[in-house]
Amino acid sequence: MKNIQAYVNQHKDRFLNELLELLKIPSISADSAYESEVLKTAEEIKNSLEKAGCNTVEICQTKGYPIVYGEKIIDKNLPTVLVYGHYDVQPPDPLDLWDSPPFEPVIKNTELHPEGAIFARGACDDKGQMFMHVKAMEFMTATNQLPCNVKFMIEGEEEVGSASLADFVKENQDKLSNDVILISDTGMIAKDTPSITTGLRGLSYVEVEVTGPNRDLHSGLYGGAVANPINILTKMIASLHDENNHITIPGFYDKVEELSKEERAEMAKAPFSLEHYKKALDIEAVYGEAGYTTNERNSIRPTLDVNGIWGGYTGEGAKTVIASQAFAKISMRLVPHQDWIEITELFKNYFESIAPKGVTVKVTPHHGGQGYVTPIDSIGYQAASKAYSDTFGKTPIPQRSGGSIPIVSLFEQELKSKTILMGFGLDSDAIHSPNEHFGVWNYFKGIETIPLFYKYFTELSQ
Ligand code: BES
Ligand code: MN
Ligand code: MN
Repeated sequence: MKNIQAYVNQHKDRFLNELLELLKIPSISADSAYESEVLKTAEEIKNSLEKAGCNTVEICQTKGYPIVYGEKIIDKNLPTVLVYGHYDVQPPDPLDLWDSPPFEPVIKNTELHPEGAIFARGACDDKGQMFMHVKAMEFMTATNQLPCNVKFMIEGEEEVGSASLADFVKENQDKLSNDVILISDTGMIAKDTPSITTGLRGLSYVEVEVTGPNRDLHSGLYGGAVANPINILTKMIASLHDENNHITIPGFYDKVEELSKEERAEMAKAPFSLEHYKKALDIEAVYGEAGYTTNERNSIRPTLDVNGIWGGYTGEGAKTVIASQAFAKISMRLVPHQDWIEITELFKNYFESIAPKGVTVKVTPHHGGQGYVTPIDSIGYQAASKAYSDTFGKTPIPQRSGGSIPIVSLFEQELKSKTILMGFGLDSDAIHSPNEHFGVWNYFKGIETIPLFYKYFTELSQ
C-alpha cells in the first residue's frame, strides 16, 4: 500500500478530532435514559461511513438499537471483508473515580503512552478501535487502493448481549456473506509486542435472589432464629469454589478443553512478568485455580465471579435489620466446548439445590454466548500476521483472551466464516473502568495496519 504513513500524518489532527467528537456522545446501551444519544451515535457512524467511501450505508432498525450497515462492492470475483464493531459503551460509573468527565475526551500523556492517550468512555472499547476501520477505509478509497469488497456492520448493543444482532445475522445471511470477518475489539500484549487474539471466552451471566422472611426484621428480636438471606447468600456463593479454587458445580468442567503440554508450553512463551502484573494492580499476590498460571487462569480456564451483591442496609450509620431479600449478579467465563445454555442450567439447578430450608432461591439467566478459537493457519490469520509484521517489524504472537465477544461464535455458525481479531488496545487501557483510555500511537498504528490486512488477504485468496 502506497503512502499510508504519509496519508495518516497529513490527516492526523482530523482523524483525532473526529474520534473525539464521537466520544462526546454518551451511547450507553445499558441505560434507557441515554436512548436518544445511542441513536444519535448510529447516525454519526452512518455519516462517517458515507464519508469514508461506502456506497451504500443504511441504518437497519431492530427490536433494540439499530445496526449501521455499509458496503462498497468493487468486484464480485474479489474477496469480501466484513468489519464488525460496536458503537455502544459501558456505563461510566463510578463517576467520582474519573480524573476527567467520561464524555469530555481529553488527551493526556501517560508513562505507557508518552505520545498521548485519549481519555473517555469508549475510547478503546470500542469507538476508538472501530473508528480505525472507518479511517482505514477512507485511506483506501481516497487513494484508490481498496483491493477487495468491504462490508461494515456496527452494532449498538454489544455491551448488553447483542440480542438484536443475533436476529439480524440470522435474517440477513446473503447480505452479510463474506470471506472473513475482521474485528478490532480486543487488545495486544504490549506496544512493542504485537499479538493476534485467537480465542475468546464464552459467558453465562445470571442474577440470583434469596428470599427469607416476608419483611425486613429487627435483628435483635429475630436474629438467630430465622434464616438471614444475606448470610445464606454469601455462604452459598462461597461454597461455589473449593479450597483449590475449583468450581464445585457438578458437571461444570465436563466439556472443558484441556490443552496439551505442548500447547501450554507454547502459551508460556508469551512475554509476561508476574511482578509487573501485581504492581500494576497493587496486589501482593495473585489468586486463582490451583495448577494453572496467571495467563492460563485468565484465558483457557473457566471462572465464576460475583459482579455485584446487595441487600439490607447500606446507607450512612447503622441500622439493625435482617433483610427479607439478598441479591447477586454472577458471571461465568467459559472456554471452548462448554455450552453456555447447558452451564446456565447446571448453575441454576445446583444453586437452587444447595439452598437451606427457610429461604427460597430464584435464578434468572441474563445473557451469554459461546467461546471461540480460531486456527493460525488460515488465510485470514496469515494476512493479519503479515500486516502486523510490516508495521511493527515483528511477527505477532497468537494469544487467547479472557474476554468475550459472544456474537463471534454465532458469526461462524450462521455466516460460516472465520473471525480475525486484530486488537490494538492494551490491558492497562482500563476498558469498563474509570479513566478508560486509548493510546494515540495505538490508534494511528491500527489505521496503518488495517489496510495491509486487506492487501494481504486479497493476495493470499487468489
Ligand atoms: N471488547 C470487549 C471484549 C474484550 C475486551 C475481549 C478485551 C478481549 C479483550 C467487549 O466489549 C466486552 O466487554 N464484552 C463483554 C461481554 C458482553 C456480552 C457484555 C465482556 O467480555 O464482559
Ligand atoms: Mn468491545
Ligand atoms: Mn466492552
